[in-house]
Amino acid sequence: MNGGNELEKKVKIAVMVSGGGTNLQAILDAEKSGILRSGKVSLVLSNKASAYALERAKNAQVETAVILRKDYASQREYEDAMIDLFTQKGIDLIVLAGFMNILSSHFTDTYPKRIINVHPSLIPAFCGEGFYGLRVHRAALDYGVKVTGATVHFVNEIPDGGEIIAQKAVEILPGDTPEILQRRVMEQAEWILLPQALETVSKSYC
Ligand code: GAR
Repeated sequence: MNGGNELEKKVKIAVMVSGGGTNLQAILDAEKSGILRSGKVSLVLSNKASAYALERAKNAQVETAVILRKDYASQREYEDAMIDLFTQKGIDLIVLAGFMNILSSHFTDTYPKRIINVHPSLIPAFCGEGFYGLRVHRAALDYGVKVTGATVHFVNEIPDGGEIIAQKAVEILPGDTPEILQRRVMEQAEWILLPQALETVSKSYC
């Protein structure tokens, strides 16, 4: 425990991404502005070589890595490659920020209460296997709910089933499309909630 003493070591964070990386950007911006001060993004790992999130990491001088599922014979070997990398880099905390791959209990049990995910709905609505990205917002609009939002939670072996850390509600408005709603949920919830939750969890591991 360092009681927030900035001279002491920060928690080393790895962010796992698959796409645009706007949540990664929110975390990097939070580090710059001081909202995130107990942790430091040390590594960005993508399961897609073309993910724009990798550019965002490079622009922020953060080390990047790409590990592709297809390069491994089994899910276990794929996950072991990621675990080996995180061990080698001394990673303390992992953030799934738009990481579009389900991780098995082999991976999640290696990091109890040390993996955080952001999901674009109010869990337990519109979550679990098959609910990711725009699909979540399409499902919310199809159902006709009037309020949605975002959830930050710890990751366990159940997709979107780990302990909830923080949630924020966002209104659904007439004329919303999945794209419009996705943007509003990001702006009003995800990009605020994720860095704040990350600071809270990082602080608890300092
Ligand atoms: C975000 O909306 C995130 O909540 C969602 O994918 C988007 C990634 O955007 N994640 C999931 O649906 C996971 N189940 P980003 O790459 O710009 O951060």
